[in-house]
Parts: sequence; C-alpha cells; structure tokens
Amino acid sequence: MANDVITLLEQQHQEIRRLFGEVERTKGDERKDAFRELVRLLSVHETAEEELVHPEVRKQQGGDPVVDARVGEEHRAKELLSTLDELGPDAEGFDTLLLQLRDDVLAHAEHEEREEFPLLRRGNDQKRLEAMAETVKAAEAVAPTRPHPGVESAAANVLAGAPAAVMDRARDAIRKVLGR
Ligand SMILES: [Fe+2]
Ligand SMILES: [Fe+2]
Repeated sequence: MANDVITLLEQQHQEIRRLFGEVERTKGDERKDAFRELVRLLSVHETAEEELVHPEVRKQQGGDPVVDARVGEEHRAKELLSTLDELGPDAEGFDTLLLQLRDDVLAHAEHEEREEFPLLRRGNDQKRLEAMAETVKAAEAVAPTRPHPGVESAAANVLAGAPAAVMDRARDAIRKVLGR
C-alpha cells in the first residue's frame, strides 16, 4: 500500500539519500538550499519515528532492544546534524562531516527497514498504518520546503532555523494530532 506509514518513511529514506547526493555535488546557493532541505526532512523524519514508530515497536516482543539501538543512532546523527548546521556548507571540514553523517544516516535507515519496520507491521493493521502516515504528513506540514521570499515569519524562522527548532515544531504537530 502506497499510503501506509512504512511506505512513507521508506520513501523519505530515498529522498534523504537523494538530498545527500545533491548537497555533495552542488555549490553556492544551490548547495545551501539543498542542505536546508536535508535538515528539514531529516529533522521531521526522525522526530516522526521517535514520536510514532518507536513507542509502537516497544509494545512488541523483542522491540525494546531494537528501538534502543535506533535511538542511539538517531542521537548521534542529531548531534552531527546540529554541528553541520552551525558550521554551514561553506565551512572548512563540512564535507568530511557530511560524508560521515550520510554514512551514519543511511546505515541507520537500513537497520530500521530490516529490523524495526517489520515489528511495526506485525503489531498494526493496515488501517492503523495508514492513519499513522497522516500524522507524519501533519508533521511535515510545519516545515514547508523552499518557500518564497516574504512568507509569514514563523514558517520562515523554522525553515532558516536550527534542526532543534524544526524538531520542536514537528513534535508539537504530532502530539496535537495524537491528542497528547
Ligand atoms: Fe530514524
Ligand atoms: Fe528513518
């Protein structure tokens, strides 16, 4: 099914992979835009997994160690992402750290697809997985992609903002949908 949460998250993994490639091969403003887009998507994506996927998988037998390992990987990736965001794409050392982040994030995504998502599918019927996809989309909507100049300031701030700001907004959006 194209519209369940596992399919959506796997599509985001592909898009994250594509954006790493775009940042690696572009320069100047184009590179800044691509990196900004990568920060946005990674921040929303990892927050959605933390808020939605991990709690569900913990309910499954054998779920805790799988989630604990993923949380550790996400924690390291977030720290590296923040460091890169503070440096900016023009800084010396950015490229080396970017490659490190790419390798970490893509390995992490593969672990999720192989070890975690099957547990998520085992514990939830199709209808539930589709409802979870809608929640992820609500989180994505708080951090719009490449808006035009002069958009309302809140969205602009989030777009220009540090990963932590995007994650906070995404988390709020998800909790609102879930009524937490
Ligand atoms: Fe993740
Ligand atoms: Fe993921």
